[in-house]
Amino acid sequence: MHALVTSPPGGWSNTQLTQIELREGRPVDVLVRVHAVGLNPADNFQIEGKYPGGPKPPFISGRDACGVVVRGDSLGKWQPGDAVVVLQSSTTDLTNGTLCEQQWIGADNLARKPDGWTDAEAAAAPLVFHTAWKALFDLGGLKSGQSVVVTGASGGVGLAAIQLANSVGATVVALSRSDAKRSQLHQVGARHVFVPDDPYLKEKICDAVRAKGVSLVVENVGGPSLATSVHLLGLHGRVSVVGVLGGVDGTIPIPALMFKRASIHGVLVTDDTPQQSQSAWEQIVKLMDGTQSRPIIDRRFPLKEAAAAFEKLRENVFGKVIVEIPPA
Ligand SMILES: NC(=O)c1ccc[n+]([C@@H]2O[C@H](COP(=O)([O-])OP(=O)(O)OC[C@H]3O[C@@H](n4cnc5c(N)ncnc54)[C@H](OP(=O)(O)O)[C@@H]3O)[C@@H](O)[C@H]2O)c1
Repeated sequence: MHALVTSPPGGWSNTQLTQIELREGRPVDVLVRVHAVGLNPADNFQIEGKYPGGPKPPFISGRDACGVVVRGDSLGKWQPGDAVVVLQSSTTDLTNGTLCEQQWIGADNLARKPDGWTDAEAAAAPLVFHTAWKALFDLGGLKSGQSVVVTGASGGVGLAAIQLANSVGATVVALSRSDAKRSQLHQVGARHVFVPDDPYLKEKICDAVRAKGVSLVVENVGGPSLATSVHLLGLHGRVSVVGVLGGVDGTIPIPALMFKRASIHGVLVTDDTPQQSQSAWEQIVKLMDGTQSRPIIDRRFPLKEAAAAFEKLRENVFGKVIVEIPPA
C-alpha cells in the first residue's frame, strides 16, 4: 500500500510517498481503510523533527482520519463496514499514522462517523475540535452569555472554537491578521473581529462586549500574543494556551494577572485517556449537530499531492487542509 513515510534522519527531504507492506495489528486494533486525513501543524512539526516527544523516523505521519473498518477487533466492538473517525488520546500511535491507505488503529481510539457528515468533514474534526472543546469548556469553563477572544481564529482550532462557543451562546471575538479572513470570520459566526496588533485592541473589545474584559482567551498564537491576552481578561478571566505559532517565548504581565485574579493554563489533548476523548467527541458532535454546523474545510488534496497539502497548511489557511485517499 502507499504511505507517506519519513525515513531517518527525518525532515521533508526524507519524506515521500512509498509503497510499503501493511504491518501486523494487535488483537485490540482495528484495520481501517483510510478515506480522508485532516492535516494539523503537529503533523508537519513531526516530519520536521520539531514535535516535542515525537517519534524517531521511520514513521508514517497523520493523526486525524475518517474511513471504513476492514477488519474488526477481537472484542467485536467494531465490524467490517463500520464508518469510523480516528480520535486523538494518550494512546495515539504517532509512529504508525494515518497518511496511508490502511492502518491498524486501537479500537478505543475510534468513534462512529457522525450521521450526515462527509468523510472530509469527519476527518477535519478530531484534534482541533477536541482541543477547542478542552480550551473552552473543560479547562476554560466558558458558559452561555460569557465572552471569549480567539487568537489565530482562522485556523483549525480557531474556527472550531468559534463554532463551539457559538453553539453554547457565548459571544465570540476573533482576531486575524488578514483583511480577507476577517470578513470570512464574521460569516462563520464571530460577533466581533479585530486585527491582533490594533493599538486600541483592548478598548475596542471592551466596547464590543460591554464589559471591562472578556471571560476567556483561547490563545492559539503564543509568543507576544500571550501578554495581550492577559490584558484582555476581565475579573477572574482565564487564558487557555493552545499553540505557539507566533513564538515559544512570551511575557506575563504579573500585576494584571494578580489584580484580575486571573489564570493561565496549558491545554494538551494528548493528556486525555481514550475514554475522555470519546466523551469529548460525543459532546462536540451534539453541539455541532444542534446548531447544524460542520467543520470548515479550506482545501482537499489527493494523497499523491500530500507535500503540496502540507505546503498549503504552512502558508495560509482558513479551516482545514484535507488529504483524500481514493480506493486503489
Ligand atoms: N495543545 C494542543 O493539544 C494542540 C492541539 C492542536 C493544535 N495545537 C496548536 O495550536 C496552534 C493552532 O493550530 P491550528 O490547527 O489552528 O493551526 P492552523 O490551522 O495552521 O492555523 C493557525 C492560525 O494562526 C494564525 N497564525 C499562523 N502563524 C502565525 C504567526 N506566526 N503569528 C500569528 N498568527 C499566526 C493564522 O491566522 P491569521 O492568518 O488569520 O492571523 C492561522 O490561520 C498550533 O500551534 C498547533 O500546533 C495544539
